[in-house]
Amino acid sequence: MERKLESTSDGNPAHDARNTIKRGRSAGSSVDFRVSYERLTDRDFQRLSSFVREKTGITLSEVKKTMLQARLQKRLRELRMASFPEYCQYLFSPEGADAELDNFINAVTTNKTDFFREPHHFDYLVSTAIPYLAEHGLIRHHFLNVWSAACSTGMEAYTLAMTLGEYALTNHGFSYSILGTDISTRVLAKASRAVYKEEDVEPVPMPLRKKYLLRSTDRAARLVKIGPELRSRVEFRQLNFMREHYDLGQRFEVIFCRNALIYFDRETEFEILTKISRHLVPGGFLFLGHSESLNGFQLPFDAVSTTIYRKRLGEE
Ligand SMILES: C[S@@+](CC[C@H](N)C(=O)[O-])C[C@H]1O[C@@H](n2cnc3c(N)ncnc32)[C@H](O)[C@@H]1O
Repeated sequence: MERKLESTSDGNPAHDARNTIKRGRSAGSSVDFRVSYERLTDRDFQRLSSFVREKTGITLSEVKKTMLQARLQKRLRELRMASFPEYCQYLFSPEGADAELDNFINAVTTNKTDFFREPHHFDYLVSTAIPYLAEHGLIRHHFLNVWSAACSTGMEAYTLAMTLGEYALTNHGFSYSILGTDISTRVLAKASRAVYKEEDVEPVPMPLRKKYLLRSTDRAARLVKIGPELRSRVEFRQLNFMREHYDLGQRFEVIFCRNALIYFDRETEFEILTKISRHLVPGGFLFLGHSESLNGFQLPFDAVSTTIYRKRLGEE
């Protein structure tokens, strides 16, 4: 199995902004390559946060300035750029817009996730949501279509796959597929690779670990890979919620959109939820994150449990 992993961490450069970092001499060169870091000025923060908002919909309040500075310093180092104005000039140029946008988005998005995060959702899915869908004839040919929207590194999608894999064992003929989408190409690459650190899979109950996860042959690497049976059920694609149409080409009976809406303002949140809702069949279930809700939005849903909503029958 693959052993080289991209780090899931955001990295913690935490460099003193005024530090001068010696990058060393390149072979055959007499140039001493030094990169000095400045603090992110209010002006550059405003320019960059407007750009983040325009491209991703994410609102970065003033308190996120230090976070943005730390994350982009890492990017500056990779590009060997000396200052934020230089980085802004590149990012806002036509050349930078092509070459740097994905890297920029990868740097500014927050991708925290876990296997079996908010476990009551997975219990509800099999104990209540699927039986409701089956009873109302909403699962055609016993095939459930699930969308893990803003899936990050895939832990949510693979948790769904394990949960549904177990359900299928006791419900003959039942089958499923899961689509995971995210704006960040970095997390999607990790999701597709399906390799995680052993400590990442600690929330997975031991019987499921034994059944669905493969251990690295190099035990010292302490890595596991999701087994082929589950991987074949899950597909990952890039999707930016800010797109006018999601062009997914299908509707789902179940959508998980958890812990992403908190990054948007109310208006953007409403627009995203409206578009997501169009991809849910009437009677289908929407699962939100623990601090998210549909309260105050005119949307065709009934609250059926904590952070779980069902689209009203008859609503398109
Ligand atoms: C905190 S993670 C949530 C992961 C997972 N749903 C969970 O609850 O564990 C939020 C995810 O939203 C994604 N995201 C942020 N802005 C987005 C956008 N405009 N379109 C799609 N995904 C976005 C981020 O890349 C990140 O992976």
